Amino acid sequence: MPHPALAAGAHPFPHVGLIGIAGMAPWEIEFLLDEAEAWVGRTATGHPLAGLTQINAFFENSTRTLLSFEIAGKRLGADVVNLGIATSSLKKGETLLDTALTLNAMRPDCLVIRHGASGAVGLIAAKVDCPVLNAGDGRHEHPTQALLDALTIRRRKGRIEGLRVAICGDILHSRVARSNFLALTALGAEVRAVAPPTLLPAAIEAFGVSAFTDMDKGLAGADVVMMLRLQTERMDGAYVPSAREYFRFYGLTEARLAHAAADVLVMHPGPMNRGVEIDGAIADDLVRSAVTEQVEMGVAVRMACLDVLTRKRRNVPGWPA
Ligand code: NCD
Repeated sequence: MPHPALAAGAHPFPHVGLIGIAGMAPWEIEFLLDEAEAWVGRTATGHPLAGLTQINAFFENSTRTLLSFEIAGKRLGADVVNLGIATSSLKKGETLLDTALTLNAMRPDCLVIRHGASGAVGLIAAKVDCPVLNAGDGRHEHPTQALLDALTIRRRKGRIEGLRVAICGDILHSRVARSNFLALTALGAEVRAVAPPTLLPAAIEAFGVSAFTDMDKGLAGADVVMMLRLQTERMDGAYVPSAREYFRFYGLTEARLAHAAADVLVMHPGPMNRGVEIDGAIADDLVRSAVTEQVEMGVAVRMACLDVLTRKRRNVPGWPA
């Protein structure tokens, strides 16, 4: 059954780019997940983006996100070019907006941008003529990560609505947590934020999530446990006494996981720090851990986003302007 808004002939995805989950309606999120489903296992074929230029401009390090955006673009037939931080003129003092204008002058058909400053990707998007996809900006948003997480949960659990999801660790510095709060609450999950008091943002309840500083209580009855890395590169002081101490109180161990539901799904966006936020044996548990599946879903989700966001400029028949 299509959502009433869609049944009434509304645009299935009216947004020009993908800067964040904020501002997306639940049925728009579901639309992208359904589109991504078609690319899982590459069951859909064709090169809809043939002849289009995709620039991946990453001003912050990345393994999974950069690679999967590159693979996604190539599988769709786009000409993909990567601009890396080490080789960019940002190191030579060029301003963000000058970089944006330079990228725009190459006439790309879509831009995928990762930047260390919250809000930077939205700023660039306002200055260029093509769709911009946010691959992570500071501690603000990482929308494709939330979409791939939602797709992984939906495939493993058959639904998202009504599930209890505990997102644990360095919530304060995490764009992954922020985008996931928005996406999972929009899709009807009961979301918990579990972190030491120093890593729990003030007014977190505004996201519609409940806050826990006791890991065992936060995990109680959880259907999904999503672990986050301590993002030390964003820390400007000591937020935790030591990695060892942190693991003792907030690391995901077998004993802790026993508080969650018997069929709990363990997730992690990567990169994982074994022995800091997660016990290596749990990360490797093929039954409970969905970590590699998340990576696989990442390619499908990014294919769907690139495809959907370039439909207008490709004049895809039946796609509203
Ligand atoms: C995350 C990121 O960069 O925000 N990684 C990712 O995209 N898979 C999380 C992290 O760096 O800890």
